[in-house]
Amino acid sequence: MILLGIETSCDETAAAVVVDGRKILSSVVSSQIEVHHRYGGVVPELASRKHLEAIVPVVDEAIRKAGVGLKQLDAVAVTRGPGLVGALLIGFSFAKAYAFTLDIPWVGVNHLEGHINSVFLEPDPPRFPFVALLASGGHTSVYHVTSHTKMEVMGQTRDDAAGEAFDKVAKMLGLGYPGGGIIGRLAEKGNPGNVLFPRIYLDKSEFDFSFSGLKTAVNRYIQTHQESCQEQIADIAAGFQEAVVDVLSYKIIRAAMEKNCRDIAIVGGVAANKRLREKVRQDAKDKGIAVHIPSFDLCGDNAAMIAAVGYHSLKEGSVSDMDADVYSRAL
Ligand code: KG4
Ligand code: ZN
Repeated sequence: MILLGIETSCDETAAAVVVDGRKILSSVVSSQIEVHHRYGGVVPELASRKHLEAIVPVVDEAIRKAGVGLKQLDAVAVTRGPGLVGALLIGFSFAKAYAFTLDIPWVGVNHLEGHINSVFLEPDPPRFPFVALLASGGHTSVYHVTSHTKMEVMGQTRDDAAGEAFDKVAKMLGLGYPGGGIIGRLAEKGNPGNVLFPRIYLDKSEFDFSFSGLKTAVNRYIQTHQESCQEQIADIAAGFQEAVVDVLSYKIIRAAMEKNCRDIAIVGGVAANKRLREKVRQDAKDKGIAVHIPSFDLCGDNAAMIAAVGYHSLKEGSVSDMDADVYSRAL
């Protein structure tokens, strides 16, 4: 079954062609970073306008690169939520019209289920049931995943998402937006032992997170070390990153042990963090747990993961109708 996937929930316009939820024929991602960079965050109105400009060329490119004819497409999958409503509506309306014109089924899918399914686009996917850590700019949650479309939230952040904390600390350090990748690269040059920040575990036996206290601690450190801050910038980045990574790794390994799972998936934009990838692999090795993390391209928002979950939803009989609408918050 050949699916066209479409994703426009935030600041990436993406389209992909995927076979049977496993094999990527093409995956095109057009980022709007340069549009939002100067505002230090995503401006919803600008995001919608950019999606409108990009959607036709991005879908055309995905179809061309996949080398398939339109008649070979079996269905369309599109992100329905959560995300920015104006942004979601561009992809959603486009997908409805595209499927209607081609007279093929279409299905609206959950963006978070998309991230979790991103590991199935890699050669060695996890076995069900597994636990997954989804860490992105908008979410930080631990899931117990029992099928491609069935997952139970074991815990989530009570305030900022992990990616949001990276973005805010980057802003405090004057490093630009989005900050995750910049902090990650800077941290490689620093020593995490030189500037210690608190690890906020909350209840160690549960799976909720909190990053706002850590963010405040970094801010206070910057305010009280204004003279030396620039010289110490790599150490501050490394110290902050290590505090986030320690907590994320601890919680996901503990979740795997609690649910007796031999497989862990780490997904979402923050899964691109090299130190997080390394630390979870290290910690899991001692416990005999297999770690599955998508390649860098599939950690951030993309449409291949949307096509993957769409394939499984369709197989389970969920076809959307023309009355379906988008939603902004996790259902
Ligand atoms: O999944 P994603 O692309 O979009 C959302 O659905 O939110 O995640 C974006 C988030 C941003 O907050 C970004 O700073 C963070 O992922 N991120 C990283 C890295 N690359 C992206 N965080 C830490 N280290 C990275 N290397
Ligand atoms: Zn995302």
